[in-house]
Amino acid sequence: MRVGVLTGGGDGPGLNAVIRAVTKSLIRHCSAQVVGIEDGFAGLQEGRVRQLDWRAVSGLIHLGGTVLGTSNRRNPLMEGEAGAQRVLESAQALGLDAVVAIGGDGTMAIAQALAARGLAVVGVPKTIDNDIVGCERSFGFDTAVAVATEALERLQTTGQAHGRVMILETMGRDAGWIALEAGIAGAADVILLPEIAYDVQAVAAVCRERESRQRFTVICVAEGAHARDAGVVVQEVVPGRDEPVRLGGVAHVLAAQLQPLLDSEVRATVLGHVQRGGAPTAFDRVLATRYGNEVANLVWRGEFGRMVTLQGGELTSVALQAVAAGRRCIPAEHPLLRCAREIGVSLGEPA
Ligand code: F6P
Repeated sequence: MRVGVLTGGGDGPGLNAVIRAVTKSLIRHCSAQVVGIEDGFAGLQEGRVRQLDWRAVSGLIHLGGTVLGTSNRRNPLMEGEAGAQRVLESAQALGLDAVVAIGGDGTMAIAQALAARGLAVVGVPKTIDNDIVGCERSFGFDTAVAVATEALERLQTTGQAHGRVMILETMGRDAGWIALEAGIAGAADVILLPEIAYDVQAVAAVCRERESRQRFTVICVAEGAHARDAGVVVQEVVPGRDEPVRLGGVAHVLAAQLQPLLDSEVRATVLGHVQRGGAPTAFDRVLATRYGNEVANLVWRGEFGRMVTLQGGELTSVALQAVAAGRRCIPAEHPLLRCAREIGVSLGEPA
């Protein structure tokens, strides 16, 4: 059996741990020949592969990024049916019996479209945003939350020293999972999420109340959050990309909205790609290893067109078709929202 492994879309901590686990599992299961496909589906289309043996994947578990390279700029489906067919022909020419695609919702959508055209493909859910449908925890998320939590702690001490309002902007696109979990773990006073449009006056009221009592306020805002009467803050639109709209800058917009309403100085920090780089946490290494091992089992059992996932804390798999359908945002009744409100964290809602 010959199996190709690729990483698609933006990178995330734990990709190398999956590559390692799937390769080792397949070699041990069935002496499979495993090849690494460079730069995602673009590399598959162009036939750019290299062999992955036991030695090639040893010592990878803690490494950030992806040794295979990735791309979120070249989606073969944007070239229409001809692009998809070139991928299928290349997979055949490379003698691949199966392809393991590790990536986020964009990668899963491409995998699903190729599965529908006959490619034997299985998926592994990666994204720091934790927003893949049918998956309660993607690897990479825990690391991003840990990085954002540490940043909030650091902002708190400097904010306290100066009596300032400190705003941290996290990633996450249209989903607020990173901001919500990091905000709670990092003891933010205000957490602003894409799922709940914020009221500037309500946020200012929290800061003013704290000005008199605690001197400082820490706000954690997701990049996709927006004020009640405004849209999301777009940093740039890059045509021709899977995700043409690049979010970013809401922390600065919020600072400008708050400053005239407060005596304290307001400062904004945009955390950016620091959340995606570097070594995965132990949790993400274990999750990535479990996913890599389980996806090898899917290949071994011939269960194609599916993505490994975690549901109710258990490893299972879902049809790629179900995953490709959208994004998993924070539901209005999520227990963490209730918990945040009940411990006195403001979610930017009017009192
Ligand atoms: O989807 C992961 C993510 O890191 C988002 O949180 C963020 O909006 C986006 O990717 C940034 O993408 P890029 O690396 O292309 O700037």
